[in-house]
Amino acid sequence: MRHINRFRLPALALAAGTLLSTVVAVQPASASAGGHGPSLRALADRAGVRIGTAVDMTALADDRTYRGTTIRDYNSVTAENVMKWESVEPERGVHNWKPADDLVRFARAHGQVVRGHTLVWHSQLPAWLTSGVEDGSIDAAELRGILRDHITAEVKRYKGKIQQWDVVNEVFEEDGSLRNSIWLRELGPSYIADAFRWAHAADPKAKLFLNDYNVEGVNAKSTAYYELAKRLRAEGVPVQGFGIQGHLAIQYGFPGQVAENLARFGALGMQTAFTEVDVRMILPVDETKQATQASYYRRLLDACLGARSCRSFTVWGFTDKYSWVPGVFEGQGSATPMDETYGRKPAYEALREGLAAGR
Ligand code: G3I
Repeated sequence: MRHINRFRLPALALAAGTLLSTVVAVQPASASAGGHGPSLRALADRAGVRIGTAVDMTALADDRTYRGTTIRDYNSVTAENVMKWESVEPERGVHNWKPADDLVRFARAHGQVVRGHTLVWHSQLPAWLTSGVEDGSIDAAELRGILRDHITAEVKRYKGKIQQWDVVNEVFEEDGSLRNSIWLRELGPSYIADAFRWAHAADPKAKLFLNDYNVEGVNAKSTAYYELAKRLRAEGVPVQGFGIQGHLAIQYGFPGQVAENLARFGALGMQTAFTEVDVRMILPVDETKQATQASYYRRLLDACLGARSCRSFTVWGFTDKYSWVPGVFEGQGSATPMDETYGRKPAYEALREGLAAGR
């Protein structure tokens, strides 16, 4: 099973420290972050595609190499955490916009676009909201108003500064049924259309996306998205994009029919994007695994470059130093294109070659 089990995070976070040192020890030496050759960004500019990364705001503030690489290699950035509800409204009515403002300002200063992530999700919700629903002090009518206000406030704040918004995130189960989230339980399925309408009202120019994992190829889950998008668009709901996260693992193989999947969303008149690409493996790392990982990165990138609908390809962090993977998947890691010391892996070179080859 490839899907992400966030509930294991606290128990497994402790193991991450020991795993990290193992990875460093076995990884082959590679060129440094400032090495030779054109940057990913320069090649992406030439190819007419956005190459993006999730950004960890603490690392951006504290780590010069991280900051320099973000500027050098990427022309799109996504907040890894700081635009999520728990971060922007930790207490009811008390907003903490600063880290998200900082990212938007950073992007502007460095000529990067921003992908907004994410407005409606079942995870990383503020405690005041989840406990209020659980203890009955927030009823469905009030919850709907809270959701509308949240979307409106956040989208308006960054109006004109966000290229693509992940409006609803991870709303389907693997079998294509709607996820049994607080939103579905309390508001029913109409919350999805409502979320898009509210976001569109707040920033009519931002491209509004559905976004999920395990939807790279054609399967029950991606087909559920296809049917949902088709229906919503027929009803005039402003849904303009389908975001494919792209959290792969080499031990599960490469998903089938990725090009076909992108093509069917393109045929609906929608944009597509790879939004959170990383390719993990069971540790320890070896050259064969790294070569497989590189080919997975390249195949996803090629799928994007081969689809007219796809103009944005984002990695979920570019260095293993800050990757979320070892804290969640015990014994797995090395998921990003650079190791903990910013050494370039074959995956980095694969992205470079893919971008150089262009569309
Ligand atoms: O902010 C607190 C900090 O105050 C505290 O000291 C620290 C102690 O552990 O925790 C911090 O919060 C963590 C947060 O990341 C910010 O670093 C949370 O524990 C941790 O659970 C959270 O993990 C994030 C995860 O989403 C949450 O589900 C990962 O960084 C982030 O990479 C990950 O991203 C998701 C996408 O949003 C959606 N798709 C899947 C992807 C991977 O799970």
